[in-house]
Amino acid sequence: MTNDAPIPLAPDGPSPSVPPLWGRVQVSADPHEAAEALGSDLMEQAHACVASMGDFHLALSGGSTPFPFYQSLMTDPMYRRLPWDRTHLWIVDERRVPFDHPKSNWRQIHEIIVDHSGIPPAQAHPIEAMEQDAAARYERALRAAFSRRAVTEQRLDFVLLGMGDNGHTASLFPQTAALRERKLLVCDCDGPTVTPPARVTMTYPLLNAARSVAVLALGSEKAPMIHRVATGSDDFIALPIKNIRPSGTLVWHLDRASAAPPNG
Ligand code: 6PG
Repeated sequence: MTNDAPIPLAPDGPSPSVPPLWGRVQVSADPHEAAEALGSDLMEQAHACVASMGDFHLALSGGSTPFPFYQSLMTDPMYRRLPWDRTHLWIVDERRVPFDHPKSNWRQIHEIIVDHSGIPPAQAHPIEAMEQDAAARYERALRAAFSRRAVTEQRLDFVLLGMGDNGHTASLFPQTAALRERKLLVCDCDGPTVTPPARVTMTYPLLNAARSVAVLALGSEKAPMIHRVATGSDDFIALPIKNIRPSGTLVWHLDRASAAPPNG
C-alpha cells in the first residue's frame, strides 16, 4: 500500500527562495534563526582555530543588523563557550570619529562585547580613527599579531560583514579608490558615495584572504540589493560587495525577508 499522504510542506510554509549568490546561502526563517545559524558557524570556527593554532582572529562590522547578534553573544549562555580569552577582536571598518562618538563602530562593539566577554584588553584592537595614519597603524597591528603564526595562516579567521543598501560592505563604497587597493590591508575611504564621516576600512586583499567570511543581511529592505547582487550585471565598482570572493568559505546569512525575490 503506497502512502498517499501528501508530502508535508516545510513547517512554516513553502521552502524559502534562495538567491543565486556565490558561496553558501543560508536562508533562515527569521532574524533570530539567522543569528543562531551565524553563531553556530562562529563557534565552530573559533574552536577549530584555537585547537589548531592557539588563537582566533575575529573581525566584526558595525551597523544595525548585527547589533542583536552581538547582544546575544553576551546574553546566550551557549556563547560563554566561545574561547574569548584566546580571541583577537578586530574591526572591519571605522568612521573617523572619536571612540565615544555615537557613530563609532568600536564604541558599539566595545560596549557590547569587549566589556563583557573576557577578551584580554591587549587582544581588543580598535582602529585609532582620529589619527591621520590610522590605516597604517592598523595594518602594522594586524601584521604584528599575524606574525606569530605560520605564513599560510597569517590571516583573519572569521570576518562578519554587512551590506549597505547601495551594495557597499565594510567601508568599501561604490566608485571609490579603496576598491582598487590590492596591496594594503587597510586604507582610507572617502568621497561623494561615502556615507559621512570619512572612513578607514579593511581592503579586499585582507578580507578575501580570510579563512571564513559571513555576510549578514536581514529584512525586506535588503531584498532588492540582494537580488541585484545575485542576478544583476553590475561590476564591483558599482556594487563593492560583488568582489568579496574569499579564498576560504563565504556564507550569506539571510532570512526569508531578505532572500525574497522582487514582487514577493
Ligand atoms: C558600517 C558598517 C557597514 C555596514 C553596512 C550595513 O560602518 O556602517 O561596517 O559596512 O555593515 O552599512 O549596515 P546595516 O547593518 O546598518 O544595514
